[in-house]
Amino acid sequence: NTSQEEVLKQIRDLKKQVDAIILAHNYQLPQVQKVADFVGDSFELCKTAREVDSSVIIFCGVHFMAEGAKVLAPEKQVIIPDNNAGCPLADMASPEQVREIKKEFPETPVVAYVNTSAEVKAESHICCTSSNAVDVVNSLDSDSVIFLPDQNLADYVSKYTDKQVIPWNGYCISHVRVSTEEIEETRKYYPEAPILVHPECPHEIKETADYIMGTGGMVKFARETEHSTMIIGTEEGLVHRLKRENPAKNFYLLSPSFFCSNMKKITPQEVLHSLKNLAPEIEVAEETRVKAYQALNNMLRATQ
Ligand code: 13P
Repeated sequence: NTSQEEVLKQIRDLKKQVDAIILAHNYQLPQVQKVADFVGDSFELCKTAREVDSSVIIFCGVHFMAEGAKVLAPEKQVIIPDNNAGCPLADMASPEQVREIKKEFPETPVVAYVNTSAEVKAESHICCTSSNAVDVVNSLDSDSVIFLPDQNLADYVSKYTDKQVIPWNGYCISHVRVSTEEIEETRKYYPEAPILVHPECPHEIKETADYIMGTGGMVKFARETEHSTMIIGTEEGLVHRLKRENPAKNFYLLSPSFFCSNMKKITPQEVLHSLKNLAPEIEVAEETRVKAYQALNNMLRATQ
């Protein structure tokens, strides 16, 4: 029955003792974001994992994110406080399936969204995140690309490239439940407020919204805009960060369906537990890691 304050204090002390840094994704619980040293989008987390010099990374996010950190920073111990925090979208592409499609299109590069396992990244030419998917695709010297696993991000990319985008059939269960009726209703209540949606949302949602951007883009937009009220169309955890950073502005979630239970699995108590035990630790077979590293590194190089 340790109090919240006591948990926070123990986390701060232990972090120093074991030379750890706590990274958290924008969708994490507010109390987890509070204990983190760095909170960011998928791309910022990749870069930060590689740049920090602590020997331990406590990664508060879903499994593929922590795995990506391990791929980029193999010399560090990467710990995920809850090993069950998965990503259904990442599970929609297996390495066997990628090998099959490569046989069908042997000349076509595979662009893997970071929401994939290390094994799938290892079968891919280059990775991307929502913030750089268009630039990554356009950086490739090929008339077509295989884009996986998110069909809605593929649809978004195809609007901004002349290349043929061969999509996969994956989707994020937390971003596809929103309806155009919810957009219409929200507009009635807040006619002046821009509606920002994540590119993982379905086509008709993106067509009806005002802006399409990843979570990092939304953080920047909220900071810089003159608007005092915004409607947020992505996982609800981001709204906590936006409110914290912009206390004079109002943020409303476009739909209660923007909720990812996997992103809510990690708690401060679990962070403390993982700091005490330095477990569960992320392991990636070296052969897979080296290939997955190439794909992630190609992304970092293409978007410098
Ligand atoms: P961002 O790259 O926008 O943070 O998105 C992460 C994600 O997994 C969306 O579902």
